Order: sequence, then C-alpha cells, then structure tokens
Amino acid sequence: MGTKGRAIIESFGIKIPELITLLNKAFADEWLAYYQYWLGAKVAVGMPREAVVAELLQHSNDELRHAGMVADRIIQLGGTPLLEPKEWYDFTNCGYDKPDNPDVRVLLEQNIKGEQCAISVYENIMK
Ligand SMILES: [Fe+2]
Ligand SMILES: [Fe+2]
Repeated sequence: MGTKGRAIIESFGIKIPELITLLNKAFADEWLAYYQYWLGAKVAVGMPREAVVAELLQHSNDELRHAGMVADRIIQLGGTPLLEPKEWYDFTNCGYDKPDNPDVRVLLEQNIKGEQCAISVYENIMK
C-alpha cells in the first residue's frame, strides 16, 4: 500500500502496526479454523455424516480463502503475515478445538463456537 493509502488509514486514528497485529491474530484464527474444519470432515461419524462433511469442507475452504485475504491485506499495509505455523497458537483469539469427539453434533457445536468467535474478532477490528 502506498504512502497515501497509509495516511488515509492513519487519519482515522488507526495505528498501522497495531492493525497489522490484529490482522495477524485473525490470520492465525483463520488457519486454525481451516484445519479444525478440514480435519473434522475427515473424522466425522454419525448421522447425517454426508451433509455435515460437505458443510465442513465448504467451510474449511472458506477459512483458507479468508486466510489468503487477510495475508494480502497485511502485505498491503507493509506487514508480514505470520511466517511460522507455531506462531498461530501465540496469536490466536479463538484457539483450536481439536475434533477429539468425532460425533457430527459435537463437531458442529465446536464449529459454531468458532464462527461466533470469528465474528467478534472482526467486529473488534472494525471498531
Ligand atoms: Fe474465516
Ligand atoms: Fe468461518
């Protein structure tokens, strides 16, 4: 992002390094959500497995796309997306709920919790 673009953001009282940190935290969340949903689709058991697997895979793809969008924005702002997966755990807001119970209902509960957390994260960034 050019000088003018950065100046516009700063004119709203937004500190770009702080914004980059918030975006990197969201970036960590997107990757962990991606993996959580993707793995959930692999291990899911119970009824209605097929419908839930399709849903989880679609959502995992969404999270991967979001991670890409957030990475692009961090780079536009002059920052660097987290370079080490191990940093995801240091930066995450929403954490990672391992799918250790493969029951589709439990997986969906975990994922709803993750989605609600993601909404609060972006709401907070907007504020
Ligand atoms: Fe997402
Ligand atoms: Fe999501």
